[in-house]
Amino acid sequence: MESKKLSLVGVSLWILLGCSLSYATLQDIACLKSIKASLEDPYNYLNASWNFNNDTEGYICKFAGVECWHPDENKVLNLRLSDMGLKGEFPRGIKNCTSLTGLDLSSNNLSGSLPQDISHLVVYLTALDLSSNNFSGSISVDLANCTYLNTLKLDHNQFTGQIPAELGQLGRLKAFNVSNNQLSGPIPHFVGYSPKAEDFSNNPGLCGEPLKSC
Ligand SMILES: *[C@@H]1O[C@H](CO)[C@@H](O)[C@H](O)[C@H]1NC(C)=O
Ligand SMILES: *[C@@H]1O[C@H](CO)[C@@H](O)[C@H](O)[C@H]1NC(C)=O
Ligand SMILES: *[C@@H]1O[C@H](CO)[C@@H](O)[C@H](O)[C@H]1NC(C)=O
Ligand SMILES: *[C@@H]1O[C@H](CO)[C@@H](O)[C@H](O)[C@H]1NC(C)=O
Ligand SMILES: *[C@@H]1O[C@H](CO)[C@@H](O)[C@H](O)[C@H]1NC(C)=O
Ligand SMILES: *[C@@H]1O[C@H](CO)[C@@H](O)[C@H](O)[C@H]1NC(C)=O
Ligand SMILES: *[C@@H]1O[C@H](CO)[C@@H](O)[C@H](O)[C@H]1NC(C)=O
Repeated sequence: MESKKLSLVGVSLWILLGCSLSYATLQDIACLKSIKASLEDPYNYLNASWNFNNDTEGYICKFAGVECWHPDENKVLNLRLSDMGLKGEFPRGIKNCTSLTGLDLSSNNLSGSLPQDISHLVVYLTALDLSSNNFSGSISVDLANCTYLNTLKLDHNQFTGQIPAELGQLGRLKAFNVSNNQLSGPIPHFVGYSPKAEDFSNNPGLCGEPLKSC
């Protein structure tokens, strides 16, 4: 009797966990499909490798630039899509990669502005590298809500306006780089990180520590 009850509990737990797991991994597949569909891929890097005609759990973990939490589970940990000649805007479909901690889109040909709600798209990100692209507009103040960030690289883009003062509140920040943009105004006060002059170089109007005072 007791063991029957226990096995019932076991079975319902198994069903519950199984359902939520496969739901999570379906979301990650939707994430990658959406990214592939929303970016131009002139050198066929994604087209050649991101083939979704496979039912094997973990198959997306072999895709170029995709790193999973576990090789047998379709759950994306990091996306490293650097230097692939990709064109287009910041891919909003990334929201469906709900367990993503690292995103590297550096050295591509991405453009447009950063989403105003970027913290809702990449909630658990610890590293964001968008350097050497063609992003423009202001640096989204909502990045300050990505509280796990320890690396934020935005150098070599076309960002304009001020660096949001709120970014200084990112308590885990270890690396921050906005050099080679079109930024102006005061450099924020960073709570846990000592900014170096090279991280701000080649902007027309930035001032304050570690550059000359405003
Ligand atoms: C994508 O790759 C397939 C072969 O893997 C090729 O037939 C197709 O033309 C490619 N699509 C584009 C847009 O290049
Ligand atoms: C599906 O993915 C698995 C795991 O990556 C791989 O071993 C298998 O060859 C793939 N099957 C097809 C038809 O591509
Ligand atoms: C996430 O995936 C679902 C399908 O699983 C889709 O309906 C939804 O539009 C996707 N969200 C984004 C932001 O792409
Ligand atoms: C980026 O795209 C622009 C506009 O289409 C093009 O002129 C430029 O050559 C591209 N740059 C690279 C590095 O692919
Ligand atoms: C960057 O975008 C501008 C337009 O916003 C375009 O004129 C220029 O060719 C782009 N540069 C590169 C390297 O893609
Ligand atoms: C950050 O999140 C808080 C709480 O959701 C919200 O009130 C605030 O407006 C967000 N900040 C930005 C800059 O979006
Ligand atoms: C920031 O980027 C610039 C140019 O890309 C580079 O010279 C500088 O060393 C970088 N700063 C750090 C701390 O890596």
